[in-house]
Amino acid sequence: MNTKYIDRMKNKMKSAGWSGLILAVVIGCTDAGTAPNQELAISATSNKYVIRVGEPMAEIQPTMYGVFFEDINFAADGGIYAEMVKNRSFEFELPMIGWEQPASDKFSMNDQSGFASVINRLGEQPNSNFLRVTVKADKGYQLTNAGFRGMGVKEGLRYDFSIMARQLEGQSVMNVRLVDSTGVILGETSIAPKGDEWQTYTASFIATKEEMKAVMNIQFEGKGIVDIDMVSLFPSDTWKNRPKGMRADLVQLLDDLNPGFLRFPGGCIVEGRTLARRYQWKKTIGDINDREVLVNRWNTEFTHRPTPDYYQSFGLGFFEYFQLSEDLGAEPLPILSCGIACQFNTGELVPMEELDPYVADAMDLIEFANGATTTPWGKVRADMGHPAPFNMKYIGIGNEQWGPEYIKRYKVFERTIKARYPEMIIVSGSGPFPDGEMFDYGMEELKKLNAEIIDEHYYRTPEWFFENADRYDKYDRNGPKIFAGEYASQSVAIASPDNKNNWNGALAEAAFMTGLERNAEVVHLTSYAPLFAHAEGWQWTPDLIWFNNLKSYATPNYHVQKLFSTNRGTHVLPLQEDNGPVTGANGLYATAAKDVNTGELIVKLVNATAQEQSIDLDIQGIDQLGESGILTVLKSSDLNTENSFDNPVAISPEELSVDLSGGSSITAAPYSLSVLRVAYKENVN
Ligand code: AHR
Repeated sequence: MNTKYIDRMKNKMKSAGWSGLILAVVIGCTDAGTAPNQELAISATSNKYVIRVGEPMAEIQPTMYGVFFEDINFAADGGIYAEMVKNRSFEFELPMIGWEQPASDKFSMNDQSGFASVINRLGEQPNSNFLRVTVKADKGYQLTNAGFRGMGVKEGLRYDFSIMARQLEGQSVMNVRLVDSTGVILGETSIAPKGDEWQTYTASFIATKEEMKAVMNIQFEGKGIVDIDMVSLFPSDTWKNRPKGMRADLVQLLDDLNPGFLRFPGGCIVEGRTLARRYQWKKTIGDINDREVLVNRWNTEFTHRPTPDYYQSFGLGFFEYFQLSEDLGAEPLPILSCGIACQFNTGELVPMEELDPYVADAMDLIEFANGATTTPWGKVRADMGHPAPFNMKYIGIGNEQWGPEYIKRYKVFERTIKARYPEMIIVSGSGPFPDGEMFDYGMEELKKLNAEIIDEHYYRTPEWFFENADRYDKYDRNGPKIFAGEYASQSVAIASPDNKNNWNGALAEAAFMTGLERNAEVVHLTSYAPLFAHAEGWQWTPDLIWFNNLKSYATPNYHVQKLFSTNRGTHVLPLQEDNGPVTGANGLYATAAKDVNTGELIVKLVNATAQEQSIDLDIQGIDQLGESGILTVLKSSDLNTENSFDNPVAISPEELSVDLSGGSSITAAPYSLSVLRVAYKENVN
């Protein structure tokens, strides 16, 4: 092993602020940045591929292409969960994070227009804090909430404000205003609490102007004492117009992927830095007022992107994840803590004799998702408005765990779940790296246990993805099935803040994905990670979808995912050159499938070279092929091309009609992913 190289990578990772433990992931990578095939000499003979339509190698599972959701990079709070108020219930560790009051009020005793005190009911209820506002002047005391790096406001849109309040003394009116940085009012409403019992008050208003970084002022008028809690503002244009719902533009991007599954809630967030801070699904359901706020584990994980104001309100909780899966037509795939905290952090272990509550969480989750409404957890689901079961088929035990302690705990989960729910498909994990000692150990042990589906993760360079397009060609057809649960090519190094969502990385992923699809017999689920990133609130890059408070755009990587998932096909076919798969010869990568429902042949082709290439297809086992097909092409002559807010479509698919009447030959543009769809009639004799 090249120790100089390892030292170099160690330093890179240190400067990226990520634990030295992850070093193994980059060992063996070459320096990133250029495509490996850029200088490749193309063989003079043309490329001739044989596709045998009558000899499908395997069914392609409907779950083949899915999405991985984790609340990292403001994906949930500040992202898809459309709440605009940060720290709405004053539950952050520093309970006034997100809230401002004029310095004259904060630091003076005499000239104050008023003051606010956080009252803590100390454990009486899950969210124990509220704010007591004492208004001393008739007009003037004001609180400001800055949202998640501002609040995005759309002209003409209705905004729905709500607040829990009680008036203890006097009478106050709360004037709620969205304002821009110059103080221009973009929309306003007011609320006058009545009586000293907690009540929820609501009011709506229409915004008059677009603004990306508005703030919300609450100006108190009238002397008195008023308590407030759950201060909330939502846009009305949420996904499916659900009150207090999700950002429609972001969900739409997921829906457009036609995902086969939705994995949630992560990621390392499942594990927590400590066991106490693991994700506990039971605390994320029911009335949103009672969902216990928890610090987000990504808040200060990386020194290069500290986000100390990152918490989880759980307004997007397990019920909403199941509902989202249903909306997307995706199989829900929850991943639960197995009793080990993140091994990059503390790696705390729950003692084996205290594992029961963790296993019970899994059992109860199955009942919550699928149980009759007469069961205790099925009733909770029904009370939340979904009496019908969610038909959950998969459950994941542990995220990136490794070593014997994982295997010991996994066995208990597996035994208990299967005894009661033999039909439940259990996803196990092979750790954070796609090779090496920990990976080999995990795979061996899980194979011995006849594990059904094993989750593999790879955050590697583009070169690795190109070079590993044949990874699953070598996997045992009779072994466990694979969930390529987290992958993304890293243009610089894992979790480096300089990683880019450029065309080079996306093309490498496309090449690799031809190998995933070719091996559909073994690979049953795949998902890119992470999914979302807020332009200002991110911790980890690259990411599939970028957004700010008003807009969002799809990366080249997104378009690659979409081309694969919306052109999945039902059966993978042998596509061969010289009796072998196409995994990089002449810089080309290819796979073929048929869709027996639509009667189409689908060929996916990656050209990782700077030269245009022509490919002759010898399509066998058919009576007839359409005279023309649709070729969808994603390409850029510049491998550094990225999409952006200013140019969201620098890389986006183009559709062309191709004439196949003179023979099945297609042209692959330089640096391109092309997907051909053409009708065929199979020879059934
Ligand atoms: O996707 C970001 C993180 O990468 C995930 O939380 C974790 O599983 C992996 O290490």
